[in-house]
Amino acid sequence: MQTTLAFDVYGTLIDTHGVLTALTDLVGDKAHAFSQTWRDKQLEYSFRRGLMQNYAPFAVCTSQALDYTCEFYKTPLTPAQKNDLLGIYRELPAFEDVEEGLLALQGVGFRLFAFSNGEVAALEKLLSTANIRELFLDLVSVDPLKSFKPNPAVYAHFLRQSQATGENAWLVSSNPFDVIGSISAGMKAAWVKRSADAVFDPWGIEPTITVSNLLQLKEELRKQSIPH
Ligand code: LAC
Repeated sequence: MQTTLAFDVYGTLIDTHGVLTALTDLVGDKAHAFSQTWRDKQLEYSFRRGLMQNYAPFAVCTSQALDYTCEFYKTPLTPAQKNDLLGIYRELPAFEDVEEGLLALQGVGFRLFAFSNGEVAALEKLLSTANIRELFLDLVSVDPLKSFKPNPAVYAHFLRQSQATGENAWLVSSNPFDVIGSISAGMKAAWVKRSADAVFDPWGIEPTITVSNLLQLKEELRKQSIPH
């Protein structure tokens, strides 16, 4: 049975800190902290909306998190400046290893999907801009469920959409909450530890494998004799 790989998008394939250059022009040396708070709040808003069953698309979480971050750092931006930042966010770059890593995995026959909190139209735009859209069999969004990762229902939705089972489907993500969510929902998971400082949540639920980038993933799956 072929193995299905579900790639998380933001933070795993696509570098959410790709806004740093533009942010530096706007907020100077606060850019790095600003970018991190923006990303953290975006995810927090998705978690809270999921729990409250008060769904709004991920792009709304991103935009409201930007408003919060401007207030937090006392760096008011004009609506036009915010729009520019959100425009950059819609075309963020992929990490350097991504295209080559995906090509290698596709080349040996793994079934590749993107699986994200983002809406399909946003994913199409992002992955096309990064030149990797064609490597995926399909893009699966949580949007039809009106909830977000790590609700177990969204991982079940992915398995249905990709016609895979938990036994033969792996989530590939740099986000520990996503790795833990997918394993709890019966999938296997590879944690992409993109920085040496990244910390995995000490919940006693470990990634099936850990790699530092996508170039290592094919070799690690081979070592585990994962069928492709
Ligand atoms: C995603 C978020 C979790 O792409 O980064 O689903």
